[in-house]
Amino acid sequence: MERDVGRWLSVLLLLIIFLSSQNVGIVHSSSLPSFKRPMRFFHFEVEQKNVTRLCHTRSLLTINGQYPGPSIVIHEGDHVVVKVTNKVEEGTTIHWHGVRQYRTGWADGTAYLTQCPIRPNTSYTYRFTVEGQRGTLFWHAHHKWQRATVHGAFIILPASPYPFKSPPIHAEIPIIFGDWWNADPDSVEAEALRSGGGPNVSDAFTINGFTGPLYPSCSSHFTQDTFIQTVEPGKTYMLRLINAALNDELFFAIAGHQLTVVEADAVYTKPFTTTAVTLSPGQTTAVLLTAGHPSSAFFPMAIRPYVSATIPFANSSALGFLRYTLPGAAVAGDGGANLPLTLPPNLPPITDAQFANEFSGEFRSLASDHFPCLVPKKVDRRIFLVIGINLQDCCENCTCLGFKGKRVASSINNQSFLLPQVSLLQSFYSRSAGSIGGDLSLDFPDRPAHPFNYTGTSFGADNMNAEYGGRLLKLEFGERVELVFQDMSLVVAENHPMHLHGNNFFVVGSGIGNYDRRRDSRAYNLEDPPERNTVAVPRGGWAAIRFTANNPGVWYLHCHLEIHATWGLAVGIAVENGPEVEQKILPPPADLPLC
Ligand code: C2O
Repeated sequence: MERDVGRWLSVLLLLIIFLSSQNVGIVHSSSLPSFKRPMRFFHFEVEQKNVTRLCHTRSLLTINGQYPGPSIVIHEGDHVVVKVTNKVEEGTTIHWHGVRQYRTGWADGTAYLTQCPIRPNTSYTYRFTVEGQRGTLFWHAHHKWQRATVHGAFIILPASPYPFKSPPIHAEIPIIFGDWWNADPDSVEAEALRSGGGPNVSDAFTINGFTGPLYPSCSSHFTQDTFIQTVEPGKTYMLRLINAALNDELFFAIAGHQLTVVEADAVYTKPFTTTAVTLSPGQTTAVLLTAGHPSSAFFPMAIRPYVSATIPFANSSALGFLRYTLPGAAVAGDGGANLPLTLPPNLPPITDAQFANEFSGEFRSLASDHFPCLVPKKVDRRIFLVIGINLQDCCENCTCLGFKGKRVASSINNQSFLLPQVSLLQSFYSRSAGSIGGDLSLDFPDRPAHPFNYTGTSFGADNMNAEYGGRLLKLEFGERVELVFQDMSLVVAENHPMHLHGNNFFVVGSGIGNYDRRRDSRAYNLEDPPERNTVAVPRGGWAAIRFTANNPGVWYLHCHLEIHATWGLAVGIAVENGPEVEQKILPPPADLPLC
């Protein structure tokens, strides 16, 4: 309670400080009266901004006119307050991807799950505390496909020194992977829904918003469209890698350099060294890079897609560079004649499933005294979720450009999730209080009604229809849960980055083929499994995760390939309040946007 009073007082004070500055940035604790917890205040204005890439100018949805958006840098333990003012003509929300939001589900920013979109010319202030997490996350819009341009880094600086051995870190550099769309991404989504077929692919990949010299450009200095990171010989850097692309898993590599992975999804990992990185949409990871003493100044770095399925994809690469500050070396900007326009030889080929799977398999929790691995060794409930693409029979007056004259959809246990026109959290919360929302259905199936050979070649099946709906999966407070995600190859086997809001989980196992509990649970890692918020379920395989449901709220669980979520590969997980006061979700904020 005391803390709350302090918190509100400091909000007021900060508001005053803020109003006089109007700057986005970090409010340092030194500039504040000393409250128990430092408060970081940010103002996000959602606005249109003309940006040119690939010789194509488009009015983008941005935060404060920036593309990619501004980085948020805070400290572990901080209260974060972000006022979002919507100055565009459509609704929006901002999601703090990976932030646990303990008891503050109202600030999770998921359209129709935890709030209704912020209407034009109104504001909503997200307030939450970041505790027990440190490292690299990101924030993004969570309404339609707005996150294509509305995203940025969310960096949590640790309260105690890094647990890994490393030379002093000279600089920490966010590197955001994204994609550029010549068309409005929302219209790409709308067109896919209309046609019943697959969506158009993006026109380019981007590194920190830059497409690089392998794409057409109309600026005479192509370095203008190219990400170039300057490094000093002999220094060590932390690269904070974020995959913010909509529909592509990506490989990343830097020619002539190894990377040491030390953190994923804002949790430390046992360090390991690699020549390249695989990152699914929604995943983040920090790597250390030590700059050597080379004789040439430029080293290409690149991203390109990891394509796990036989579907149309954007076969292209975003190229950027490391530039060493060597005496006498040419400076970038001279037309780029001296730049090596080749992909790093250590960048895996687009179909390299083996690299992708082995790379995900390398992650281990620290499991130290200071950073214990709190994986539930026993579970109270086992849930088996069959995920993937299915086909719906054509409807009257519908266009059906999916395979076989049907419409493409996706589902979990034959349920294709439809977003409601209300906030599910609000309905669930009011229901707990014994009033409205009684028609909420909390009976999402724990397993498929009819088991089948999930990874067989059953493309011939006539009836692949899923049920459309919004049933929620309900968990009791404190329940220790195991979720097994099983990819199905009904239409196409594919890698699915499954992301859970409001909770980290432990990836205790994964494999290829159909999951067999007796056989596969024996090989679980219950000692030091990685703790993440997004797991890449391998193509034609499965992944098992565990967590304790001790954060009351309604949490979206979905494939972070945007088109899959659009098609219904999603579900809301409703977690009941616990018995103690500090185990209940806080009341909804007064400015919560309503539908
Ligand atoms: Cu990156 Cu549902 O979110």
